Amino acid sequence: MRTSPPRSVPLNDLLRQATALQSELSASVNRVLASGWYILGRECAAFEAEFAAYCGVSHCVSVANGTDALEIALRSLGIGPGDSVATVANAGGYSTTAIRSVGAEPVYIDIDPYSMNMSAASLSARLTPAVRAVIATHLYGYMADLPALLTVTGRAAIPLVEDCAQAHGAAIGGRKAGSWGALACFSFYPTKNLGALGDGGAITTNDEGLAQRAKSLRQYGWSGKYQCSEYGRNSRLDEMQAAVLRAKLPYLDGWNARRREIAAIYSAALAGQALEYPLDFGQAYVAHLYVIRSHARDQIRGALGRCGIATDIHYPVPDHLQTAARGTRAAVTAKLPVTEQAAREVLTLPCYAELEDAEISAVAGALQALAEEVRVG
Ligand SMILES: Cc1ncc(COP(=O)(O)O)c(C=O)c1O
Repeated sequence: MRTSPPRSVPLNDLLRQATALQSELSASVNRVLASGWYILGRECAAFEAEFAAYCGVSHCVSVANGTDALEIALRSLGIGPGDSVATVANAGGYSTTAIRSVGAEPVYIDIDPYSMNMSAASLSARLTPAVRAVIATHLYGYMADLPALLTVTGRAAIPLVEDCAQAHGAAIGGRKAGSWGALACFSFYPTKNLGALGDGGAITTNDEGLAQRAKSLRQYGWSGKYQCSEYGRNSRLDEMQAAVLRAKLPYLDGWNARRREIAAIYSAALAGQALEYPLDFGQAYVAHLYVIRSHARDQIRGALGRCGIATDIHYPVPDHLQTAARGTRAAVTAKLPVTEQAAREVLTLPCYAELEDAEISAVAGALQALAEEVRVG
């Protein structure tokens, strides 16, 4: 345990978790090495069963990454050229990439200023018959208002796909992220709350037919070995990553609790200051990212940087303002004042389970000092 104040606090440090779990991770990797089976084997099947049970669903289909999970989920629903898919524009472009990959068009929905997740009222206002599905992202690890969003999609009789890439283990009323939508998509990118030692992803669902279709689509569209019933993808989770994820899954709830604890310490340090910060969202928030908002974002970033505290911006350019979107119908028709303002104001602070107490205190101390250092109002 460190006794003197840290000289710097990194935004993330993946080596810490890998070191703490070194013997378990080595044993997992060695088990796969010794098995002689490296793709879609026992580890994958076991992880799928364990993760489905964790999420409280009947099916989990593992895939190569979270973006593929979104693409395969859309394809499983039959979304393709000529269709539109409603999504948010403030989540790093992942859903847009998947929507474009299936040949569909995004329809961007503005966010709620408080949660920064999709606004159910804005969704309701922008639905047209061309919108055949909705992707709701649980941004920063805070669950979108699924009861309200599902009321809107239920009325329109269209499926909702959850993007749970930042929300492993979050829950509303005891019901986990990944168990609400027709399908739900996860990323196991190394920095996620449940992260692999490489790329990984998964789709969860309670629908047997959708699970079977996703399983076929992740492997060339095969209905059986060498039998191609439709054209799919090659997007498989390998046995090494599945074994690593199995070793880590039992720790997830503890890591999430620690993330929430850190978030609570930061929020207490910021109480009374003229900026916005995560309040106590309870189990619906797994503190994947701790994001504050201020008109003085860049000043705050500078002040924290001078204290050695690393920060980042998630995300600086909304999807409809990206160069790749220029001239597209989605960009031209987008009216997203809340999204655009958030992009100018958000700032991410270090928040992960392996932060040391001295580092957390250093961040909290720097946050308390902000009021004197910069005019944050
Ligand atoms: C909200 C969200 N959706 C989707 C993805 C895409 O996941 P991946 O990087 O595994 O393709 C990410 C990962 O960064 C994400 O944060």
